[in-house]
Amino acid sequence: MKAVRYHQYGSSDVLVCEDAPTPAPGPGQVLIKVAATSFNPADALLRAGHLRQVLALELPHVPGVDVAGSVAGLGAGVTGWAQGAAVAAFLPLTGDGAAAQYVLAPAEAPDAVPDGVDLIDAAALPGVGLTAWQALFEHGGLQAGQRVLVNGAGGAVGGHTVQLAHRAGATVTATAGPRSAERVRGHGADRLIDYTRTPVTDAGHAPFDLVVNLVPTSPHDSDALAALTADGGVFVTATTPPSADPGRGVRTVRMAVRSDAAQLSGLLTRVAAGQLRLDVAQRLPLPELPAVHAQADQGSLPGKTVIVV
Ligand SMILES: NC(=O)c1ccc[n+]([C@@H]2O[C@H](COP(=O)([O-])OP(=O)(O)OC[C@H]3O[C@@H](n4cnc5c(N)ncnc54)[C@H](OP(=O)(O)O)[C@@H]3O)[C@@H](O)[C@H]2O)c1
Repeated sequence: MKAVRYHQYGSSDVLVCEDAPTPAPGPGQVLIKVAATSFNPADALLRAGHLRQVLALELPHVPGVDVAGSVAGLGAGVTGWAQGAAVAAFLPLTGDGAAAQYVLAPAEAPDAVPDGVDLIDAAALPGVGLTAWQALFEHGGLQAGQRVLVNGAGGAVGGHTVQLAHRAGATVTATAGPRSAERVRGHGADRLIDYTRTPVTDAGHAPFDLVVNLVPTSPHDSDALAALTADGGVFVTATTPPSADPGRGVRTVRMAVRSDAAQLSGLLTRVAAGQLRLDVAQRLPLPELPAVHAQADQGSLPGKTVIVV
């Protein structure tokens, strides 16, 4: 099969589109014929070797933790999937990913893609949608009527976080730059802070019952963000933790997204019902993935990028 892989950690130049062995499903695994994957910032961190101390990869490695495609084979002991069923999944970070014609998923990872959801665009959902859901509800315990700050709402995770918080009945304050402001407002943000003009810590809308940080801040900036959390509130960071316990009964969570087929099912149902929008900035073919990594490294990706296989 064709796959984009890297044989060593490094810059985007290490990515090559080449022939690789087609995997065979072992016990407890599903073989998925890939329709699409999508780029996530973690793909670049893994490729550069920045996470190798905590997440050692077997090289060569196929990137791509999001997959949408169709069931092509079942390993021993796996039942319940028909050949050709449309599925999406968030794949384990350390296994081979979906920048290939076929990928293996643990049997518990995939969820059916319902009618009304474009299979290619579904590849934009798993990682960012699960991160948003888990930040708000699993870690943040969000309730209707609460005040939420989403720092980094212009990104792919942020867009889903704003939509889900708004739908849950929260009052949403969001930081977004000029290129994302209109989209974030359309997602239901009640108040926007243009972080390119006013630092969120100076914007004066605190306190918040829940602060979700999606920007790779310095520890000092994380401390300042945590200080915007109300007494007894929750500070959830998907990036940098604060350098110290903020006190005042503020609970701090440094989250790591995990696969959860039931949560993914709920998210896909929302997409099908028109309650959750997938913002796909561009669709590119598999051989373009090295260029996508290069663009991401330069900070010039235009938004969520889906890779069509
Ligand atoms: N821990 C976890 O489990 C987990 C899971 C998923 C993602 N993450 C991390 O979460 C972060 C966001 O992921 P993503 O997929 O949403 O990335 P993304 O789509 O690349 O979003 C990046 C966005 O951040 C915004 N931004 C940059 N600097 C900012 C600042 N100083 N203040 C406010 N917004 C700023 C920009 O939006 P504008 O267009 O508004 O300028 C940019 O579009 C990444 O660092 C990723 O690695 C962690």
